[in-house]
Amino acid sequence: MINFAHRGFKGKYPENTMLAFKKALEAGASGIEFDVHLSKDGQLVIIHDETLERTTDGSGLVGEKTLDQLKDLNASKNYPDCEIQRILTLREYFDFAKDYDIITNIELKTSIIDYPGIEEKVYELIKEYGLEEKIIISSFNHNSLIRFKELDDNIKCGVLESSRLYEPWNYVKNLGMEYYHPLNFTVTKEVAEKCAENNIGLNIWFGVSDYDYSQYLEMNPTGLITDYPDRVCEFIGK
Ligand code: G3P
Ligand code: MG
Repeated sequence: MINFAHRGFKGKYPENTMLAFKKALEAGASGIEFDVHLSKDGQLVIIHDETLERTTDGSGLVGEKTLDQLKDLNASKNYPDCEIQRILTLREYFDFAKDYDIITNIELKTSIIDYPGIEEKVYELIKEYGLEEKIIISSFNHNSLIRFKELDDNIKCGVLESSRLYEPWNYVKNLGMEYYHPLNFTVTKEVAEKCAENNIGLNIWFGVSDYDYSQYLEMNPTGLITDYPDRVCEFIGK
């Protein structure tokens, strides 16, 4: 069971920052999930929203700023007690993560802005670092996943969903993807059993901060994606 830290250790630290990633590993996470966009000058950057206002002291669209402009921003503005964090590039994350025995779940944020060429850029960097076996690509934009599979069918992909799909195991199988990444509320015992029967990995993500994870662990998922990797450790006894 992979204990994925959602946007790093989001429950306690500024999301999607190096601090949140380091703290997640210290807390016992065995995986890290984060979100990727493209800057104006085509750099892969790690941030959740399309816009800068919520998590940084900047404003406007991520995709309308150059990397230099993004690097000037404070990505920990909501955590005045933390040292200033900068928006990371995917390359900076790989430089950090490459030596750890962890699984990285890269979520392509292509539902609202379908950044042209983002899949190729992510794929090229994965290859450069030789991280093919330690990555799961996910997206709410399933077209993005298909494009990724066309680049390399061996990279594992997860179908992200927040709605209750009809027979999601069939949907995921028909798309040719290896994982289903549903919102916790939508997961029933039947969904978990059918995913297992069809050899589809089940990584359940949680849209709320605080949760009793035990009912989901009983379904034997391949992973949980939560804001609190420390609490998941307590539940699984690690
Ligand atoms: O990948 C799981 C989860 O991160 C999806 O939602 O909005 O937190 O990126 P969001
Ligand atoms: Mg995400």
